[in-house]
Amino acid sequence: MCAARQTRETRRDMGHIRRAVFPAAGWGTRFLPATKAQPKEMLPLVDKPIIQYAVEEAVDSGIENLVIVTGRGKSSIEDHFDIAFELEAALEARGKPHLRDLVRSVAEAASISYVRQKEALGLGHAVLTARGPVGNEPFAVLLSDDVLVARPPCIRQMMDIFDAYQSSVVAIMEVPMRETDRYGIIRGTPLPGSDRLYEVRGMVEKPAAGDAPSNLAIIGRYILTPSIFEALEATGEGSGGEIQLTDALRRLTATERVLAYKFDGRRYDAGEKLGFLKATVEFALRDQELGPAFRSYLKSLDIDGC
Ligand code: UTP
Repeated sequence: MCAARQTRETRRDMGHIRRAVFPAAGWGTRFLPATKAQPKEMLPLVDKPIIQYAVEEAVDSGIENLVIVTGRGKSSIEDHFDIAFELEAALEARGKPHLRDLVRSVAEAASISYVRQKEALGLGHAVLTARGPVGNEPFAVLLSDDVLVARPPCIRQMMDIFDAYQSSVVAIMEVPMRETDRYGIIRGTPLPGSDRLYEVRGMVEKPAAGDAPSNLAIIGRYILTPSIFEALEATGEGSGGEIQLTDALRRLTATERVLAYKFDGRRYDAGEKLGFLKATVEFALRDQELGPAFRSYLKSLDIDGC
């Protein structure tokens, strides 16, 4: 068998990434009371809910099947990605076809299915809830509160790594040592020939600064092989009484290679207030229509007098 054909067949055996899971069933307590009756994932950055940025990242990366994990009080996410006939008719009647097309394009962007996490038992449990629609294939996981600006999109960068190495990949970034207690932190060895890839040797969830094995923090993008489901099933409650994805990933490293990838781009933690505000300001400044007026407004502010 010629080498090129063998490579193609090997790849087909392992599969490409065709599905992405978006866990969106958490409580969003850091945004209370805003998230009492509204999902955190629907908070808008300028004019789009944060989950739409993640959905667009997956679609732009070539992923066709999207699975959103929802829970109680999250039905507005389904409504957002559905066709809204009445709204479209009203926009048409008011002579606003561009807005009608905009609204329709959200519904047509992707094929989305939903699974329900009946209790918010943790991110790991949310991923396990998606086992049925994912099946026995490698898949991507995107946490919408991590809004990433990258070209190519972060998950595309990671899919390329998966294609090359055929192993699970977690996205990481460097954080100040004093902030390690906010993240899952990896212990890794650099992969020869790459300044962005590490082989994961260990992981700790939210270690205190002195106890952290590195300053390489896991952020909300993952490519996972289906073995993660067995690892999740075997994983009990961890930090915060929740089933943690990090714990299952650590378990996975015992049987499979797991890589960590320092992604090329910018990340906003829109799951907490300051990060959300930073993202809002920077996205507004970059917005073609809004940017110039918003920039002059910011310049005119007497910040200390506010
Ligand atoms: P977070 O750790 O940000 O938790 O979850 P949260 O509940 O959303 O927000 P806070 O910490 O209370 O403010 C990371 C991602 O995992 C999802 C969340 O919706 C978010 O996208 N998640 C978390 C679930 O889907 N189910 C869970 O049980 C927990």
